[in-house]
Amino acid sequence: MDKIWAAFAVIATMHAATKIVSGDFGKTREGAATRIYTLTNKSGVEVKITSFGGRVVSLKVPDKTGAMGDVVLGFDSLEGYLNENPYFGALIGRYGNRIGHAQFKLDGVLYKVPKNDGDNSLHGGTRGFDKVVWTPRELPDGGLELTYLSKDGEEGYPGNCKVTVVYHLTDANELKIEYAASTDKDTVVNLTNHSYFNLAGDGDVLGHMLTLNADHFTPVDSGLIPTGVLKPVAGTPFDFRKSTAIGARIEENDEQLKLGKGYDHNWVLNKKGFELSLAARVEEPSKGRVMEVWTTQPGIQFYTGNFLDGTIKGKGGKVYARRSALCLETQHFPDSPNKPKFPTTELKPGAEFRSTTVYKFVK
Ligand code: BGC
Repeated sequence: MDKIWAAFAVIATMHAATKIVSGDFGKTREGAATRIYTLTNKSGVEVKITSFGGRVVSLKVPDKTGAMGDVVLGFDSLEGYLNENPYFGALIGRYGNRIGHAQFKLDGVLYKVPKNDGDNSLHGGTRGFDKVVWTPRELPDGGLELTYLSKDGEEGYPGNCKVTVVYHLTDANELKIEYAASTDKDTVVNLTNHSYFNLAGDGDVLGHMLTLNADHFTPVDSGLIPTGVLKPVAGTPFDFRKSTAIGARIEENDEQLKLGKGYDHNWVLNKKGFELSLAARVEEPSKGRVMEVWTTQPGIQFYTGNFLDGTIKGKGGKVYARRSALCLETQHFPDSPNKPKFPTTELKPGAEFRSTTVYKFVK
């Protein structure tokens, strides 16, 4: 009898596991085929991810009434992603965020990477991990594995760097992203996901309430490169240790807010080491959705979509206006390769870089 119940239990668990189905997502301009994967959990929460740039295309989660709504910006088809856009939903690498003067020294050798953000290099250069086709594999547990080999010298970075990213959607309404990287030559790595969230599914994000578990942030210069100082948030508009509306102080006469044209900064997360800990919590009062961000990473870039300007039309023809979304990019600090005091982003042959980030919808 026990055995029969055990068998039922196994079948029930298998049934409850996240489902993954895939479809064709069209070809890139170079003729490479791309796929789109739909992961659905037992409550009907659904995420769509494409192998082009490993991008999260849509993420449907319930509001307080149980109605499902898409909480990320993006496009209905591959075409939108092939056109110029600010990294909607993308995996970012080899080095996420900025490298000052687009160069760094490693083992005494000067490496130059593309200048694609004024004098600096942003999000891996001209053709970063957001613009390549990853090799997808459906996992037996309903997860999606994406791998990419970034060749020695690609975008100026040393070493053949093999990157694996695994997306899972759990029955606890978590989008879990696990990153791993290895190299055959000393290199630098900073991996993140660049999803743009709007928990109401519409309007701007100024009324979203944010908590950031950080006592310090990294102030920047006019090119948004950290000065190297870890500045206490206390007494500044960067203090989100208590839940605060994003728009409450965004227009204050503050030098750092002016430089970022709003929030576009890295916060230094309060943590002991590289344990998985709560980094951020976002609550949208009208629809009642709450998202927590958990990560093993030391930093988080909070960006309020200041450079969105209404020129991009996304899903269903929706115009993406200024501050209509927010990004919470878990990461190592910007410009770490030039900041010896920041946690290192160097990766050596034989070692493996690993990190985990979880976007959890708790209501
Ligand atoms: C950067 C912003 C940038 C955005 C899109 C963010 O990670 O911090 O400055 O505009 O990405 O490119």
